[in-house]
Amino acid sequence: MTTDSDVEVGREVLTFPPDFLWGAATAAFQIEGSTTADGRGASIWDTFAATPGKVLAGDTGDPACDHYNRYQSDVDLMKSLGLASYRFSVAWPRIQPSGSGQVNERGLAFYDRLVDSLLEKDIQPLVTLYHWDLPQVLEDFGGWRNRDTAYRFAEYAAIVHERLGDRVQAWTTLNEPWVSAFLGYGNGIHAPGITDAVASLEAAHHLLLAHGLATQALRAQAPESHRLSIVLNFSTIYGDDAEAVRKVDGLQNRILLDPVLGKGYPLDVLQDTTWLGDWTNVVRDGDMETIATPIDWIGVNYYNPTRVAPADPGFVPLGPHAGLRGVTIEPPQGELTGFGWEQNADAFTELLVRLSRDAGGVPLVVTENGSAFPDVVDPAGRVHDVQRTKYLVDHVRAVHRAISEGADVRGYLAWSLLDNYEWAAGYSQRFGIVHVDFETQQRTVKESAVTLSRIIGQNGLPA
Ligand code: NOJ
Repeated sequence: MTTDSDVEVGREVLTFPPDFLWGAATAAFQIEGSTTADGRGASIWDTFAATPGKVLAGDTGDPACDHYNRYQSDVDLMKSLGLASYRFSVAWPRIQPSGSGQVNERGLAFYDRLVDSLLEKDIQPLVTLYHWDLPQVLEDFGGWRNRDTAYRFAEYAAIVHERLGDRVQAWTTLNEPWVSAFLGYGNGIHAPGITDAVASLEAAHHLLLAHGLATQALRAQAPESHRLSIVLNFSTIYGDDAEAVRKVDGLQNRILLDPVLGKGYPLDVLQDTTWLGDWTNVVRDGDMETIATPIDWIGVNYYNPTRVAPADPGFVPLGPHAGLRGVTIEPPQGELTGFGWEQNADAFTELLVRLSRDAGGVPLVVTENGSAFPDVVDPAGRVHDVQRTKYLVDHVRAVHRAISEGADVRGYLAWSLLDNYEWAAGYSQRFGIVHVDFETQQRTVKESAVTLSRIIGQNGLPA
């Protein structure tokens, strides 16, 4: 762990660039609770969670961290940790309960209050407009399979930006559209729980279109100073077989990044899938230009690498790689997190260096990175999350290494500020740097949070 005296005793300190942005992240559905308060409409996650067998232990989005009622003390907590920025998402069904048209003033007012209290404490808000909670009404009309949803999203984005844009500079259209598309419509382990490979590709295209349209809508009304982005999830792909690595890298990393960067879909990879021909008819003239509307930074969510191996050409894997012929996903190696994810900080350095090169001058911000372990509050009221603390320190060092190798990385936000609702895993996985007792809503700062706080204070850490 970094101590305040590291600098004084002359240990070598890895210092970050002066304006490096430090903070933590959350998402609306994972922390807010109050899913019917103040006119909020239902989202696909409310429906999914209420469907028996979809979420572990039948956990729902209520009460989550009751952040809707406790946002003020949560902001105080952020301040006490010295966070300079806070990434949160706006729940579309609070703003437009039926997904379009009528705007719910009480929903907007909540985010007004949240932004004001952040600014009062000098914490920079980073707003994500979509973190998976699609209004259920839109799903009833096909959700992301329906092109119309992209246009509805751009309208919603403009409404939120119009309201908060006088105070919020940093905007993200979508969080991890790969997960929305491939887990939501592909293998069905996320809402809306559809299992249809073609639908997942259609959803992916409409999500990217939504990103492009919303970026244009925001750009049209935003002052120069506003910074627009998309947040994508990435994994470093490892394997002895270069072809297998190329294919999975294409389906996992390039499939959404390439179009956003104006390179089009990675057809070299998609032609190895079983569904290419059924899908490309949703791509209309002009879409690829819209999707490639310039952005100011790319958000990188990184947790773990993926290991792959070649398989019989007739073998078509299940899960999010459904449809990709001739590859198989191998088990993780080395130390795992409590969620069974490989801990590999070198893979993070490698990824950031590669992405920064591929992004051709567009800066990166680490918008999520973290680990889940089954923490407990000890009798003295402490949480000794030794493994998470090590994961954090290793990965922050990995970011520093990437920067020294030339990657343009502008910030690091830990996932997550609070233990929260981990989607299909319900409340079983604790990613927070702050522990939440879901019975009492008591918050307990973990050692990892104290460590992050020190890193922020020093803008660096010992080598
Ligand atoms: C990425 C997602 O954006 C977030 O919602 C989720 O909790 C973390 N990964 C951990 O799985």
